[in-house]
Amino acid sequence: MEVVLLPTPEDCARVVADAVAGSVAAAQEGGPVALGLATGSSPLLAYRELLARHRAGAFPTEGVTAYLLDEYVGLPAGHPESYLQTIRREITDELGIAAHGPDGSAADPLRAALDYEARLRAAGPVAVQVLGIGANGHLGFNEPGSSLVSRTRVKTLTERTRTDNARFFDGDVEAVPRHVITQGLGTIREARHLVLVATGGAKAAAVAEAVEGPLSASCPGSVLQLHPHVTVVVDEAAGSRLT
Ligand code: F6R
Repeated sequence: MEVVLLPTPEDCARVVADAVAGSVAAAQEGGPVALGLATGSSPLLAYRELLARHRAGAFPTEGVTAYLLDEYVGLPAGHPESYLQTIRREITDELGIAAHGPDGSAADPLRAALDYEARLRAAGPVAVQVLGIGANGHLGFNEPGSSLVSRTRVKTLTERTRTDNARFFDGDVEAVPRHVITQGLGTIREARHLVLVATGGAKAAAVAEAVEGPLSASCPGSVLQLHPHVTVVVDEAAGSRLT
């Protein structure tokens, strides 16, 4: 695992963009590319950097299709806070690429999870997967206690994650769905290259546990330790508890 500790979130964004663009370019030589994208605040600056490079012709996206890590269950299709709409708005529309995610509005979410796993398997392996990490160590929406070999499935969000995400729902925690469909930790591990970005002191404990703690379902992020190609990019605050 490569851990890159940088002074500011802007520095992190550049290094994440380098890592993503490099892995995408290498994969493009072999045909269609599946690009794994996370939602949330952590990758936003990196997405802006990738968009700037794309506009400048330095990040071509021919043959690239985006796949999401996760989606809320129960929001109507097209809801502005659904992860699919969010990722389209934040990056994929302007990159000119299609984005796919689990169908959280499906009448049968269990079936939708299995369908998404099958779609990923058909399109994969994901060339490079962008990841954030929850303050409680979650990866995707694999909350603490998730099996390290889990596959795409329906999960219940912890109250902490619902509270953390209430900012996207006008601060109303009751508006945050209780269930999600998330790629499992075993599914995420099948991506060729994992690029995790974390900034800010609220992530310091989770980053230290994921990178240096024991491999444990109590910190889903620790599953990174099992992967042969991981780039962890942190600013000084998020890296402040690394030894
Ligand atoms: C998002 C996701 C989550 C976030 C994590 C960090 O698709 O899967 O694991 O990456 O909750 O969220 P932010 O970046 O908003 O702090």
